[in-house]
Formats: sequence, structure tokens, C-alpha cells
Amino acid sequence: AWPDRILSGIQPTGVLHIGNYFGAVKNWVDLQNSNHDVLCAIVDLHSMTLPYDPQKLPQHILLMAASLISCGIDPEKSILFLQSEVPQHTQLCWILSTCTTLRRLAQLPQYSEKSEYLEKPLLGLLWYPVLQAADILVYKATRIPVGKDQVQHLQLANALVRTFNLKYGETFPHSKPIFNPNNAARIRSLIDPTKKMSKSFPDPNSRIDITDPPDLIASKLKLANLESTLSIVYDPQTRPGVSNLIEMHSALTGRQISEVCQEFKDFDIERYRETVTEVMVETLRPIQSEVDRLLNNKEYIISALKKGTQKATDIAADTWRSVTEKTGN
Ligand code: ADP
Ligand code: NA
Repeated sequence: AWPDRILSGIQPTGVLHIGNYFGAVKNWVDLQNSNHDVLCAIVDLHSMTLPYDPQKLPQHILLMAASLISCGIDPEKSILFLQSEVPQHTQLCWILSTCTTLRRLAQLPQYSEKSEYLEKPLLGLLWYPVLQAADILVYKATRIPVGKDQVQHLQLANALVRTFNLKYGETFPHSKPIFNPNNAARIRSLIDPTKKMSKSFPDPNSRIDITDPPDLIASKLKLANLESTLSIVYDPQTRPGVSNLIEMHSALTGRQISEVCQEFKDFDIERYRETVTEVMVETLRPIQSEVDRLLNNKEYIISALKKGTQKATDIAADTWRSVTEKTGN
């Protein structure tokens, strides 16, 4: 039996919004705190597959590391590191690319979706899921927190495991997805609540970043589309905006949606909006002061990442040795 090991990754593309926090990071923190073996990679190589600004990347990496630590990723408990600092990811990616076909990669839905908008989709964008598989396999990770959109990529990783193990002998474990148990796993855009909250939307009022100061949180929630509903009704189909407010409230307080609806059923919508604003401000306040504190102590962040890189490299180098023994390199 393979030891239980969890790998999660996040791109250093600016700050975290509350969708990323409640939909992903909070769950990683819970796994870490229930004594699972967690690796948390800031996947800078992945962020190069779409247009990005190399001038800003170093700052975005530090901000992402500071944000993750502030949200509860503990660099002493989890292995927090920068993907590009561990060269075995790309080395293994190459080996794995000899275990699948171009046709298989071109069929993955994310590639067709993302490349549709691009004049010249990059080879890296097509290859991305192979690097993602390498991220997993280089640590022999067995469980991967994923969103629904990532399931096909995990299937590819498992297909690569099958092919590699058949070709060269039992080397890698298969991995299983961990779906978010949070009932507010999908936070919606504040402006268009039929869509998910995403940093890809140009309008910053559509999302709340975990570093937004109180007055900005208040003004964004004031603008939130609540489809002119007067009272607290939970109905995601016809009232996605109000329902999103209730779901965010539920995620913020850790209480069931039904409990929240019961307690606030007599509130008019404006008073409820204010209530959620207060809870949001108070929940994010300690995270924000921790981000500020860490950004004033960049040496600490850099040294935390260095320690993580060392621990990650110890595992990855071991895997790489066993791979090259089998592949004859
Ligand atoms: P974005 O859409 O903002 O670019 P990413 O695709 O980088 O977000 O996702 C990073 C992580 O956050 C993933 O695990 C994803 O499932 C989660 N996530 C992103 N947006 C949301 C959301 N609106 N609600 C819940 N989880 C989300
Ligand atoms: Na995205």
C-alpha cells in the first residue's frame, strides 16, 4: 500500500479571492490540520502557459505564499514550495510525454476551451496536464483536491501511471480526487451570479479578494446583484445572487444554509447585506493583518519557501532516481 499523500497546486496569478479560499485553500488547511501529509505547490510553470507578466511574477509568487500562509498553510506542517525550484517536475514531465499521445492531449476539454480565445495557443497549454501529472507523480501523491473541471486531468495522470507501470514496472501509485466537502464550494460572481467568481473576469467588483480592506468589501457587497429580492430566500435557480450571499454567509460561519435562513428570515435584504458584510470583514481581518505582516518580512516568506523546496526536493530526487533506474537513463 502507498502512503497517503496529498498534493495541491495553485498558480501565482495575483491574490486569492474568497472563491479560491472557500473552494480550495480552506480545505487544504483542514487536511493539513487533521494530520495529513500535504504538499502545497505554487505552480509558476503552469502560469506561463497563458500570457503573463514576467516583471510581476516574483511579486505574485511572494503574495501567493504570504496569502497561503495567512490562510493557515503552515510551512512547518505542510511542504509549501515553488514548482520551478524543483527541476524533477519538468524532467519527469518529459518522460511522461513519451507515455501518451498528442491526440489524447488534444481531446482534453480545457485545452479546447482555453485555446478557442487565443490566436496562437502555446504548446505548453496543450502539454500542461502532463506537467500536472508530473507534479503529482514526482511525490507519488495518492490524493488530489480537485474542482470538477480538473477531473479529466486526474484521469490523464492515472492513464500515465498505468502506461508507465506497464512499460517499466510498478513505480507510481494511482491517485484519487478529493472533492470539496464545503457546502459553499462554488462561490458566484457578485455582478453576474450565474457565473462562478473568478479572477479571469475583468470587473474587480465581481469578486472579493481576501486582501480587500473593509470599506472595499462593503462597497462591493453593496453593488452585489441581489435581483431586487426583498427578503431572504434561498433559491439558487431563480435567485442566484441572494443565494450566493447566503452561501457566502454559510461558508464564513461554518453553519448550514438552512440554519442561516432560519435565523435571518425576518431580516430585510439591506439589513442582511450589512450582516454578511460585517461577518466577511471580521473573518478576513486576521488573514489580512497576517498578509501585511508577512509582506513586511519577505525574508521569512523566502526562507519558508526554501525549506519547503528542500523537503520537496528530497522526495522528488528519490523518485527521479527510481525512474531513471527503470527507464535506463
Ligand atoms: P480562477 O477561476 O479565479 O482563475 P483558479 O482556476 O485558479 O481560479 O482556481 C484555483 C482553485 O480555486 C481551484 O481549486 C478552484 O477549484 C477553486 N475555485 C476557483 N474559483 C472558485 C469559486 N468561484 N468557488 C469555489 N472554488 C473556486
Ligand atoms: Na482559472
